[in-house]
Amino acid sequence: MCGIAGCISKHGAVSKILFNALKRLEYRGYDSAGMCTINNGYLQIKKDQGKIDEINARLNFLSLEGNIGIAHTRWATHGAPSQVNAHPHVDCEKKIAVVHNGVLENFLEIKQELEARKHVFLSKTDTEVIPHLIEEYLKLGLSFKDAVREACKKLRGSYAIAVICVEEPDKIVIARNESPLVVGLRDDIKFVASDVAAIIEYTNKVIFLENGDMAVVTPEIVEIMRIDSGVLVERRITELNWTVEMASKGGYLHYFIKEIYEQPHTIKEALRVQEKYLDLLTEFLDRGKEIFLLASGTSYNACIAGSYMFSKLARLTTFPVIASEFIENYGRSISIDTVILAVSQSGETADVLTALDYARYRAATIIAITNVLGSTLTRIARAYVLQNAGPEIGVAASKTFTSQLMVLALLALRLARKRGKISQFEIDDFSDKLNSMPSLVKKVLEISDKPVKELSKEVAKFNSIFFLGRGISYATALEARLKVMELTYIPCIAYPAGESKHGPISVIEDGYPVFFIAPNDETRKHVIGNIMEMKARGAKIYCVGSEDDRELIELSDWYLGLPHVHELLSPVIYVIPFQLLAYYTALEKKLDPDKPRNLAKSVTVL
Ligand code: M6R
Repeated sequence: MCGIAGCISKHGAVSKILFNALKRLEYRGYDSAGMCTINNGYLQIKKDQGKIDEINARLNFLSLEGNIGIAHTRWATHGAPSQVNAHPHVDCEKKIAVVHNGVLENFLEIKQELEARKHVFLSKTDTEVIPHLIEEYLKLGLSFKDAVREACKKLRGSYAIAVICVEEPDKIVIARNESPLVVGLRDDIKFVASDVAAIIEYTNKVIFLENGDMAVVTPEIVEIMRIDSGVLVERRITELNWTVEMASKGGYLHYFIKEIYEQPHTIKEALRVQEKYLDLLTEFLDRGKEIFLLASGTSYNACIAGSYMFSKLARLTTFPVIASEFIENYGRSISIDTVILAVSQSGETADVLTALDYARYRAATIIAITNVLGSTLTRIARAYVLQNAGPEIGVAASKTFTSQLMVLALLALRLARKRGKISQFEIDDFSDKLNSMPSLVKKVLEISDKPVKELSKEVAKFNSIFFLGRGISYATALEARLKVMELTYIPCIAYPAGESKHGPISVIEDGYPVFFIAPNDETRKHVIGNIMEMKARGAKIYCVGSEDDRELIELSDWYLGLPHVHELLSPVIYVIPFQLLAYYTALEKKLDPDKPRNLAKSVTVL
């Protein structure tokens, strides 16, 4: 989730405006940044790795002249953070410059085609194919606008782009598919950006482009058209009354709720992980004699879910292990035959890195899933897959949990296919289910928000809460517990529902709140038994289950019904009501949901 900005003015240089926009966008990604203007018929580019102020101190963005320019803050997805991988990217003749936010699925194919036509690529990014594609179409005699349009038609994946070209220095051409893009309007000056935060200090009059839109932006006018047909379209001008702070939260009150609501998008991006890296990880997993899924906190809960996916789909036994316990528990027995799949959104968690250091010296193979390209984890892993969830600013994990689940499910499916453990029908069926997750998550957000918000008034008064689930829903129970506990400070207990009778049930007294996670899978019949045990001791039953489960609805004091979902993907949707519950209960208790006390986003101490 990078940040892009652009500005074109009738009077004067735009570098100051672009620099301010970059600062406002820094929260979207911050491993590198760049700016490009057109001056005297040439592109002038300054870009580097690092934070914006550091880069500016070295390169002085403000010295760029020209009344048209584009800028970018990067959150790496293809190619590690570096000067060459920083945006803008240019064509062979350095006439076209592009900034991009998103993930291109087919860049490798395009790159190979272009290389065959003697295009030279400097970076490892997916973005660099765009200026080269546009260059090809310009060579065919197309106008700048049409060349961008044709290039966009070849792109698959998500993108918001802003492009400038020295041959037509009177316009910025922008286009979007899935990634957001907004145009800011003022007389004689126009702004473009990936979000309103970048431009709100200059104008509150904006046009949000729709999926499949592109636009030609000049200081005077904005002409919007469809990418596929070229047909001109009208889009409404919106007048916002947002502060800069509200804008950076997308109009939400807090990052945590913004990130919860980003999940339909981040789940789609998780499905866009590069196949060759999935294949590589699959190879290593298949070769291992013993496989550990190693992580902390939320990422560990994702690993528990992952272990069910690997065993049920690929018939592979894996051991989820809490990173801080790994050396004590398994250190002595690991060897060259050990494969460790480390899962860490930040890639910097000290417990994870320490365990991996220990394992590396015993010749274990380290592979990883992480959200941060360039993190220490990406440097020590033999191979890794990125989650593509964009930066997560709320201290408590939300969208990165569900994107980890998606990547784990993709891996489990690959492995199942490689090991010949499931039929083609099952493979196709599971792939379809994976692809339907973004829309399912959207639906669950719609269904859950209101009733959960209402429930939070009651939950805010609880002194302690139980979360129970069986099978893969145990992972959901653990994550529900972690979310509610870390945001509301209410002590919470999570157990596999079947284990609750072996001790924890002694806690139950009249009215004690017990939440059950009970999708309609093979474990449901036993969950009913567990609910009865709890009810018999006076527990108040709160249940999230399938939308048409009459029996569970009858048994529960409070019930939320969710749409049908594949058993192994159920944590992706069943965790959502609990993320919302944690958020709204924190608000009820007047707590800051973005910065729970005593917690840090990345725990870099042991
Ligand atoms: O960056 P990581 O995934 O390695 O972080 C692991 C935990 O520190 C993290 O999940 C933590 O538990 C969060 N507070 C969860 O909301």
